Amino acid sequence: MKKRIAIFASGSGSNAQKIMEYFKYNDQIEVALVLSNNPDAYVLQRADNFEVPTHIFDRHAFYKTDEVVDVLERLHIDLVVLAGFLWLIPQNLLRKYPNKIINIHPALLPAYGGKGMYGDRVHQAILDAGDEESGITIHFVNEHFDEGEVIYQARFHIQPDDSLEVIKFKGQQLEHLHYPKIIENLLKKI
Ligand code: GRF
Repeated sequence: MKKRIAIFASGSGSNAQKIMEYFKYNDQIEVALVLSNNPDAYVLQRADNFEVPTHIFDRHAFYKTDEVVDVLERLHIDLVVLAGFLWLIPQNLLRKYPNKIINIHPALLPAYGGKGMYGDRVHQAILDAGDEESGITIHFVNEHFDEGEVIYQARFHIQPDDSLEVIKFKGQQLEHLHYPKIIENLLKKI
């Protein structure tokens, strides 16, 4: 039986897209489900395009019930992949998937992480600090935002005249390149 990935995303889902593309013809690994807290998230359209089932949940279901855990178990999910998912992962999910929930962050953690540090806020903070280097971090998820053990980091150089858009683009390129491969490596060990 194929190893099965569930992707959680709250927004556009460009990483989810790359992951679905990467595993589309893989005979050992598949994206089995895309979940979102946001019924308007573009990632749901992307999932439809790949004929990947979707599940939408609200705050009550996520934090006060086992609905999401039950869905993941029913589909025999092996690895939970967060890709632009903005809510903290609750204990019931962490307990069911120890070291099997990963996240990607658009900076070199522990720098520029934590609650509220997402999207353009991260890139703006990096720009404001005048850093010469940034990158991406793929890490295990725990009960705190952006604090689990680091699995992989990749770096890029920031030129003095790089705009926010350029920094964002450089980070996205690295995310799209590395996240699917890291997922594949992890799943080989599960
Ligand atoms: C990425 O930058 C990722 O690092 C962060 O959220 C963003 C998601 O982008 N966690 P997308 O929805 O995959 O385009």
